[in-house]
Amino acid sequence: MKPLQTRAAARETAPPTPLISFRRIDLSYGDRRILEDINLDIGEGEFVSVVGPSGCGKTTLLRLIAGLARPTAGDVILDGQPVAAPSRKVAVVFQDYSKALLPWRTAAGNIALALSAMGVPKAEWPDRISALLATVGLAGDGDKLPRQMSGGMQQRLQIARCLAQEPRVLLMDEPFGALDAMTRQSLQDEVLRIASTRSVTVFFVTHELEEAIYLGDRVVGLYANPGRVAQCFDVGLAKPRDQLSTREDPHFLSLRHELFSFIKQA
Ligand SMILES: Nc1ncnc2c1ncn2[C@@H]1O[C@H](COP(=O)(O)OP(=O)(O)O)[C@@H](O)[C@H]1O
Ligand SMILES: [Mg+2]
Repeated sequence: MKPLQTRAAARETAPPTPLISFRRIDLSYGDRRILEDINLDIGEGEFVSVVGPSGCGKTTLLRLIAGLARPTAGDVILDGQPVAAPSRKVAVVFQDYSKALLPWRTAAGNIALALSAMGVPKAEWPDRISALLATVGLAGDGDKLPRQMSGGMQQRLQIARCLAQEPRVLLMDEPFGALDAMTRQSLQDEVLRIASTRSVTVFFVTHELEEAIYLGDRVVGLYANPGRVAQCFDVGLAKPRDQLSTREDPHFLSLRHELFSFIKQA
């Protein structure tokens, strides 16, 4: 367990310039303080998992990066600028894929919407759509409507639609919470592959502690009432990760132990 302050010292190489910085963030709703003195730097290309008790402010942190919530004090810096509004650099994948997709549009049609919003010329759409569908393992499913797709396929489609935006940051809020275990594992691997090949920075909220370790370069643990950064765990497991060998790695098991102990007292 390494407190935040010693994280940089614990790394063998200097941390990259942060792409996202929370600087002395406080956030209150009315009299109620939700987040208190959040200081956190996230490097370009880093995969950060966020865990903490229900209601501790995980979604609120994500909404701050997305420009969907404003701090009461402090700044969230994205790529050198304070976040003031939603930006195309940032895409959000929500848990509820059924609400995120337009039910009357096909898979291809849902992606086309994002390309249109990006101002991509129409002539380029078919190739871009095919490539995006293939990236998320939906090649050949472009003509299907969301209701003709399984939950896992719909979540893949939501991810493809986010990628159409070519974001630098992917925010994921318990994205696999509604999926069965097998589908969840295959999507975890898909997201890891996408994050590394596109060098996208990922802020991944989950209450599954093993998922947080499996995916993350770092796991940020929060306390509740008010939400504070309690502890950062450097994961340091070899990549690419593997559902069998990574989860059996003694280091994975010791991190799992630390994280479960942390959550029990958080
Ligand atoms: N718009 C809002 N107005 C008032 N309270 C809110 C609002 N959004 C979130 N909260 C409260 O802030 C706390 C943190 O919420 P949230 O970030 O959703 O937690 P988590 O995602 O960790 O479960 C909760 O107690 C929630 O009720
Ligand atoms: Mg939440």
